[in-house]
This record gives sequence, structure tokens and C-alpha cells, in this order.
Amino acid sequence: MTTDATVTPHGYAYDNDQPSARRHLSALARALDDFTIGRLHHLGLAGKRCLEIGAGGSEIAVWLAAQVGPAGTVVATDLKPRHIGAHPRLTVLRHDITTDPLPDGPFDLIHARLVLMHLPQREQLLAVLAAALAPGGVLMVEDWHATADAVVLDAATDDDRDLFTAYQRAVNQRVFQAAGSDPQWSLRLHQQMRLAGLHDVDTVINAPVWHSGSPGLILALTAIAEHRDRLRDAGLTDADLTRVERLLISSDGGLVVRGHQLYSVSGRKP
Ligand SMILES: C[S@@+](CC[C@H](N)C(=O)[O-])C[C@H]1O[C@@H](n2cnc3c(N)ncnc32)[C@H](O)[C@@H]1O
Repeated sequence: MTTDATVTPHGYAYDNDQPSARRHLSALARALDDFTIGRLHHLGLAGKRCLEIGAGGSEIAVWLAAQVGPAGTVVATDLKPRHIGAHPRLTVLRHDITTDPLPDGPFDLIHARLVLMHLPQREQLLAVLAAALAPGGVLMVEDWHATADAVVLDAATDDDRDLFTAYQRAVNQRVFQAAGSDPQWSLRLHQQMRLAGLHDVDTVINAPVWHSGSPGLILALTAIAEHRDRLRDAGLTDADLTRVERLLISSDGGLVVRGHQLYSVSGRKP
């Protein structure tokens, strides 16, 4: 076991126990839940057994609990489940998907959004999730394709454009990739689902545009709150980070950004 304190621990780079977590998870929900619900709503969920992995603070687990009705069940898991909502048909579990056995299945629907991309064991975990499906069951995995290249569509000044680009690059590399996240995993998901033996594999890509003050850019604040030291190591000064915060938060910040594309990939167990 290493004792080198400079090695970044692998896994999800943020922490649901931090003060910034509620704002972060709520921004994710506002940015993505409508799209995800649009993907799930046609599945015919009444009476189904559902598993939501790494539920965070999204509304998806509670929404599923309402959809499955009295004959269905929903289990929602998270490493730190304190932000998951409540519903009479929802069971919430503290659970580490990289080490703990899955809750008892099989399941008619398993959904994981923005979890596998952060976990180095993602390929194996996909196979574990596929194996936990009942015949006819659906696995839906949604992950971002995260890039900092040419993402700024408009900014008040060239300095703002360059600063945001440098910031986004530092977050992607020093915070997420350093912790083992794979920003390209989403591009392999469709094939991985097929190789896991799933049929009818289907990919839909959500391509948002984020303006200053919108939930997508509010998300980018969390790296400053939780990993200021790593951003400083990347060459960003405290004055830079204060300017970035203004660009992200204020509705008149003038920043317009091509947001991360969300790859929503589903497959059905034969
Ligand atoms: C980026 S957030 C996504 C939250 C939610 N799925 C959403 O899309 O709004 C990642 C979530 O996965 C959880 N997580 C990270 N590692 C995990 C693990 N090994 N097992 C279970 N959950 C984990 C985190 O605690 C966090 O709530």
C-alpha cells in the first residue's frame, strides 16, 4: 500500500459530505433530469424492479419510485447517500459499487448517470450490472464526453475565453483525470454494452449550451470549492479563480459554452 501523500486517490473526485455538494448535485439535477426522464419514461415501469446506482441528489430515484407504482420497487445506492430523496417505495443504501455485492436482484431497470466514467473499474462494473438484469431488463448508463477544446462559443473578452479554457482544462486534467475519470469512456459505451451481451443497444446524445449562471456552469464551481490546491498547481492564481467564479455565477458574465455532451446508452438483456 502506498504512503505517498502526493498520489491522488482514485474514484469520484468530489465528496457528498462537503458543503458544496448540495449545490453541485442540485445543479446536476437541474441540468440533466429532464433529459434522463425523457429517456426513461417510455420504458413502461409499472410493477418493475429498479436499481439506481450512485443516485447523488438527482430526482431520478424518487421519480422511478412514483412510476413503478405499488407493485414495483426501487433501490437507490450511493457511496454517500445523504442527498437522495425519500419515497415510500424507495430503499436507500450506502453502497460502494467497486467493492460491495450488488443488492439482491434481478432488476428490470438499472440506471447509472455520471458514475462509471469516474471509476477505473468501469468495464468490469458494466458487465456486473448487465449480469444483474432480469430477462428483458434494461441497463441505461449515461456519461459525459468532457473536453476543454474549443468549447467557448462566446465571451465578453478574449481574456475571459482564455481563462475559462485554461480553467476547464485544469479541472479535467488535475481534478478528474488525476483521480482516474475517463472523459472518453462515453465514446466506448455503445460497444461495451454490446460486448456485455445486451441487445437493442441505443445511444442518444444530449448536447447542451451553457450560459453564465446556468446549472451547467454552476457545476464548474465545485472544483474551486473542493480542489483549489490542484488548480493552483496547474498555474491558476487566486485572482484567476475569483474571476472564474464571477464568469460562472453571474448571469451577466457573458460566457456561452458548449456543455459536456451526455451519452445516454441503453441495452436490453435478451
Ligand atoms: C457526479 S455524481 C452523479 C450523481 C447522480 N447520479 C446524477 O447524475 O445527478 C456521482 C455520484 O456517484 C457516487 N459514487 C461515487 N463513487 C461511488 C461508488 N464507488 N459507489 C457508489 N456510488 C459512488 C457519488 O457519491 C456521487 O453521488
